[in-house]
Amino acid sequence: MQKHIPVLLGAVLEALGDVQGKTIVDCTFGAGGYSRAFLDRGANVIAFDRDPNVVADADALGAEYGERFRFVPRAFSNIAELESPVDAIVFDLGISSMQIDIAERGFSFRADAPLDMRMEQNGISATDFIEKSTVAELANVLRDYGDVKKANVLARAIKEACPQTTFALRDLIHNPKDIAPVFQALRIAVNDEMGELERALAVVPDLLVAGGKCVCVTFHSLEDRVVKNTFRAWTTAPGDPRMPVVACAPFGLIKTALPGAAELQNNPRARSAHMRGVIKNGESA
Ligand SMILES: C[S@@+](CC[C@H](N)C(=O)[O-])C[C@H]1O[C@@H](n2cnc3c(N)ncnc32)[C@H](O)[C@@H]1O
Repeated sequence: MQKHIPVLLGAVLEALGDVQGKTIVDCTFGAGGYSRAFLDRGANVIAFDRDPNVVADADALGAEYGERFRFVPRAFSNIAELESPVDAIVFDLGISSMQIDIAERGFSFRADAPLDMRMEQNGISATDFIEKSTVAELANVLRDYGDVKKANVLARAIKEACPQTTFALRDLIHNPKDIAPVFQALRIAVNDEMGELERALAVVPDLLVAGGKCVCVTFHSLEDRVVKNTFRAWTTAPGDPRMPVVACAPFGLIKTALPGAAELQNNPRARSAHMRGVIKNGESA
């Protein structure tokens, strides 16, 4: 199994600037590639991940960096519970190479396994989700999260067959172009990925110090749209721009980035990645 290669890490580090002595929240620990890079540059890191499989890597990093690293084995919507303001909050969304590559996790349509797809390894699996959804709800998931055409027809077929395995689901999808989007759509729904992102972003402004930064790496247009629209709202000055005194926007835009040719060659999983970053306005302490 290939270890996860961090995506757009150079661009994220550039967006964060000097992190020596700063406190960074890594909302998506994964294989710890981002966390390690922040620690190596002198930051203190609080890392979140909802997947119990990452705990061993997190413990190893804790043993290496001591009190500068803290791991919270929970979904990142819980960042609201952090006690004090932090200097940066970073999201590298989606799933890791390890999650895709371990067939039994049920994320991949390239290996036959139970149709699970739970990052957290508890709660309802993809099969349970299909069982408890109506055809209309399933169709909405396929349409909204996978942009699947003929979503109603496919939703009916899936509901009738109630597939228990990845291959059983894959075999119901007649248009090969729909296979990846259907798997993505179910994964997003099972893990409430859009709800997680929206709840976490909603508390970011209050958690950052003045001069603090939020950086997000997204992997599909749906999550990128949420990040783009949220950042646009934060970087727009309130009030009427035609009035003589225009209030300052709460945030400024710092950077957007896409992977370059070299990164794409080295890591095909970077293909749909998009990084956006903002900085909170105001006097830093
Ligand atoms: C793309 S990987 C992150 C890779 C990491 N940046 C690295 O360099 O190794 C995404 C990770 O985020 C975790 N994740 C996704 N959504 C999450 C959520 N809502 N709360 C906590 N962890 C989440 C996944 O379990 C996965 O391990």
